Amino acid sequence: MPFPLPLRTDRLRLRLHRPDDLDWMVAVHSRPDVARFLLDDPWTEARGAEVLDKRLARTDLDGEEGAVALILEHDGAPVGDISLWLTDREHRSAEIGWVLDPAHTGRGFAREAVRTVLTTGFDHGRLHRVAAQMDARNTPSARLAAAVGMRREAHFRQDFWSKGEWTDSFVYAVLASDPRPVTRRGNRAE
Ligand SMILES: CC(C)(COP(=O)(O)OP(=O)(O)OC[C@H]1O[C@@H](n2cnc3c(N)ncnc32)[C@H](O)[C@@H]1OP(=O)(O)O)[C@@H](O)C(=O)NCCC(=O)NCCS
Repeated sequence: MPFPLPLRTDRLRLRLHRPDDLDWMVAVHSRPDVARFLLDDPWTEARGAEVLDKRLARTDLDGEEGAVALILEHDGAPVGDISLWLTDREHRSAEIGWVLDPAHTGRGFAREAVRTVLTTGFDHGRLHRVAAQMDARNTPSARLAAAVGMRREAHFRQDFWSKGEWTDSFVYAVLASDPRPVTRRGNRAE
């Protein structure tokens, strides 16, 4: 079944990337504080155009790319991006990655969006497992993974050479059969 887009949460709309997202993407991903724990260096305009080009083709888990690249919108403006991609197409394992514009952190937007992407991935995308990898120093990202019901499965020691130094990394994951996390208001994640 195609990924049912756009997705909606209480405060957000999650849609596919568009060519006119380039300025927002470069403005956010060129920031050293955003790139600090990501594998990429801060983006140049050219790097942004290259990534956007790839993301425009990521429109469905069951499409050629086996991936869906989403922009999170709040009040009609981009506030973040989330990608979900198959790492094992046959056995329905996937990985997820997330970035928020620092102007919109600390409001629970990432949790709200990631919960919905995971639920959709399990219910519509028939996923078995979704994992997230992160720099072990990335506390906001680890908190987000735990908040959406992912379990820390691994702490790899100095397995990534990142921006001039060895860094540890965490792997978090959630299974389709895991209980769905309860949101702050006591409702099941939408
Ligand atoms: C990782 C990242 C997306 C987390 O962003 P975030 O704003 O901390 O995450 P959320 O949107 O889920 O917000 C959670 C915070 O909002 C607070 N919050 C405020 N209002 C809230 C609400 N209505 N509902 C839920 N949480 C709320 C929570 O208490 C929490 O703060 P805390 O961690 O201090 O307790 C962000 O730090 C980021 O983009 N970093 C740079 C890119 C990056 O490193 N990406 C990850 C690569 S692995």
